[in-house]
This record gives sequence, C-alpha cells and structure tokens, in this order.
Amino acid sequence: MNRLAGKTAFITGSARGIGRTFAEAYINEGIDHVIIADINLERAQQTVSELGSQAYAIQLDVTKQESIDAAVDETAAKFGGIDILINNAALFDLAPIVDITRESYDRLFAVNFAGTLFTLQAVAKCMINRGKGGKIINMASQAGRRGEPLVAIYCATKAAVISLTQSAGLNLIKHGINVNAIAPGVVDGEHWEGVDALFAKYENLPRGEKKRLVGKAVPFGRMGTAEDLVGMAVFLASSDSDYVVAQTYNVDGGNWMS
Ligand SMILES: NC(=O)c1ccc[n+]([C@@H]2O[C@H](COP(=O)([O-])OP(=O)(O)OC[C@H]3O[C@@H](n4cnc5c(N)ncnc54)[C@H](O)[C@@H]3O)[C@@H](O)[C@H]2O)c1
Repeated sequence: MNRLAGKTAFITGSARGIGRTFAEAYINEGIDHVIIADINLERAQQTVSELGSQAYAIQLDVTKQESIDAAVDETAAKFGGIDILINNAALFDLAPIVDITRESYDRLFAVNFAGTLFTLQAVAKCMINRGKGGKIINMASQAGRRGEPLVAIYCATKAAVISLTQSAGLNLIKHGINVNAIAPGVVDGEHWEGVDALFAKYENLPRGEKKRLVGKAVPFGRMGTAEDLVGMAVFLASSDSDYVVAQTYNVDGGNWMS
C-alpha cells in the first residue's frame, strides 16, 4: 500500500531498533523521505545505506536545543517541511530507590521527556507555519502505565510522555496536528540486551533469564518485535487516524489494559 506517499517523516533515535523498523515500514508505505535523526551519526549513515534513497541521515542530540533546531531546519529546507514526527529516542536505566542517582535522573529525563517535548515543539512550530497539519507519534511504554520496583525513573519519564501526549494532542489539534502515542510492552532487540544485563545485576539472575521470564508472562505468549508495532505506527501516521487525538495505544500482546 502507499498510505504515506508524498510525505516526509522525521524519526528520532532511528539508527537502530524500533525507530529503524518504523523507517523501513514507512518506505514500504511509499513515503517520499524519512529522516534518520540519531545521536549516533555513523550508525544512522549505515542505516541509510541499507534503507535506500528515501532515507536521509542527520545527527541529532535531543537533549540540545540547538541540535533540535538545526536538524528540523535542515529537514524543512531540504524536503519542504515535516509531515510526520516520531519521538522515539530514549534511554533506559534501573536501580532500587535507595541507589537512584541524580545523574541517572537527569540523563533519562533529558532524553526521554525534555527531548520529546522540545522536539515535538520545534516540529509543531514548523507544521503550524506550513499550515498543512501533521502527525506526531510519541513512544511511551507499558512502563508509563504503572511503576515498577526497580524502574522508577524510566517509568516516570514514560508516564510524563503519556501526559504530554494528552496536553499536546488537545492543544495542537486546532492546527490539524494529531498527537498520539504508542505504549509497547517488551520488545526484543539490541535495547533489551542492556535491559537484561541490568536486571541480571540487580535481581541476581543469569543473563537472558529476565528476557525469558518477561516473554513468558506476555498473554500473547512471547516478547514483541519491532514489526509488531508497525501497524500502529503506520495507522497513526496516515489519514486513517485523522479523528484520533491525544491517545496512547497499548501494543503489548495483552500486558496492559486501559
Ligand atoms: N525495546 C522495548 O522493550 C521498549 C518497550 C517499550 C517502549 N520502548 C520505547 O521505544 C523506543 C525505541 O526503543 P528501542 O528498543 O528501539 O531503543 P534503542 O536503544 O534500540 O534505540 C534508541 C535510539 O536512540 C538513540 N539516542 C539515544 N540518545 C539520543 C539522543 N540524545 N538524541 C538522539 N538519539 C538518541 C540511540 O542512539 C538509539 O539509536 C524508546 O522510546 C523506548 O523507550 C521500547
């Protein structure tokens, strides 16, 4: 299908993982341009070389306002505007409450929440000036639906993303900008190697065991894959979702109901 023909998408943190899979899916949906905006420029360029001529790499650090402005301006100048933004870049960390550090707090909130807010703001301004509306998709998480004993900061950043999705969704729909979010459950990939290692350390588990346990606990019967999220990412980017505003959709194999 060609549901995204004529569009330009800007995806943060898309050099690898879920963001990369979304970029590939958007190309399969006929998109004109997809911006692989990542702090890791080398990996972004590698991804672009694999995805083909619709993909374009930009170095972006979502914690720096000048980096956000430069990446958004470059995209608008080169491709005439941005139709779709996915706020996907994020970091993970975990620790028991008594071991949480300010450094971890600052780092996670800077990327996962402030990065999402100020990238959303810069792209929304660009969409408003152009007057053609747009679609903004924030990556939340099941971790934003409830706290977890070892995951206080990450859970709080994702709860904040869900709240921001509601406020921004309500504020921007008058400009024809739909803001919605996806809350995945547990999604296999490079990211989970790091997550598994942290759980192994704090829960005294052999490597790979946490991954096995979380997969087994999913009602669907296995961990998710990035491909499992593609249908929702295309829906929320396409005109099929024009009447959908300020929502966060669980795509998690049945882990959470809300
Ligand atoms: N994998 C999961 O189980 C899972 C579950 C729920 C939600 N999510 C969310 O989905 C999204 C993607 O997850 P993933 O598993 O693909 O993660 P990932 O770690 O594989 O990819 C994250 C990307 O973000 C980039 N990045 C990091 N800091 C950045 C910064 N300051 N500026 C720009 N880019 C930066 C990294 O270089 C990397 O390419 C994240 O928002 C994550 O919180 C993931």
